[in-house]
Amino acid sequence: MSINLIDAQGDILITNRKYVITGATSGIGNALAVRFSKNNVVFAGYRNKDFVENLKKISSNIIPFYIDMEEKGSISRAAEYIKSQADKIDVLVNAAGYVVGGAMESVDVDDIRKQFEVNVFSHLDFSQQLLPVLKDKIINISSMASFGIFPFIAPYCASKRSLDILFNLMQIEMSAKSALKIVSVKPGVIATALWGKSMELNKKSIEKAKDGYAEAIEYLRESAYKNQTNGLNVEKVVDLIVKIDSCRRPKSSYTIGADAKVAAIFSMLPQRLVNFMVKKLLHQKIKR
Ligand SMILES: NC(=O)c1ccc[n+]([C@@H]2O[C@H](COP(=O)([O-])OP(=O)(O)OC[C@H]3O[C@@H](n4cnc5c(N)ncnc54)[C@H](OP(=O)(O)O)[C@@H]3O)[C@@H](O)[C@H]2O)c1
Repeated sequence: MSINLIDAQGDILITNRKYVITGATSGIGNALAVRFSKNNVVFAGYRNKDFVENLKKISSNIIPFYIDMEEKGSISRAAEYIKSQADKIDVLVNAAGYVVGGAMESVDVDDIRKQFEVNVFSHLDFSQQLLPVLKDKIINISSMASFGIFPFIAPYCASKRSLDILFNLMQIEMSAKSALKIVSVKPGVIATALWGKSMELNKKSIEKAKDGYAEAIEYLRESAYKNQTNGLNVEKVVDLIVKIDSCRRPKSSYTIGADAKVAAIFSMLPQRLVNFMVKKLLHQKIKR
């Protein structure tokens, strides 16, 4: 049973729960592991073995587990391991992810396949396998990219939209037989290593896109590096997720950040108007 209190700083304090977090070695997943492990058990997913000791140092409440979201066998082994250690998990946070970008006319389709493997299929696979022990919530770290209005990161946008559609319909289908809540958190730009890493991972697509889109790609490159410091502080996302976790009836979708809220409003406009505005903004930014 969980006991929700307010601590001396006025923050919500959640205790005695069990969490599983993927992508726990960095950024949002890591910040969540730090916060939740203060008073709860956290199964923290890592891919890079160099980070295991860092995870263990955070708290003795952290139980690291290996998971490579690109590898089906690894996902199954991770789920089996967790089920062997706990007969009940309160919350699964699907946080692992990365960004595939480039120009849609030249981006390698295999890179898009991998984007969907990591950002969508792996989360569905892992969640399905953990369902027998999941008691309260699945919280997916989606993105404002799910609103589908960001040129040159179309594969990322499509992956986040797909993640949201698949899990939202899962929630509707399961509602008659299960109390499990499924929540999509759609952050705007957050100050993590995600964007810088993406520039490295997308070198090939970026080079290809320079042929015809040099200014746009240069603008995106500059923004990506700025995002790492200019984005919203990751603790704001953690605060929101703690709030969602303490809710008995959370909403199915939350945006966080002024940029994400604007993107949400944009996405409600007619497609023709959205496209007009996105093109105008893109051309304005490139001309600067
Ligand atoms: N930062 C933003 O502006 C932002 C905004 C909206 C949504 N998001 C979403 O938030 C989530 C977390 O991103 P972040 O900003 O915290 O970025 P991050 O610091 O780069 O963290 C991403 C985490 O995912 C893990 N990961 C990536 N690919 C993996 C794979 N194939 N197998 C296992 N683990 C893998 C990374 O592990 P490695 O260290 O091994 O790569 C890392 O632990 C992502 O889903 C991202 O799309 C981020």
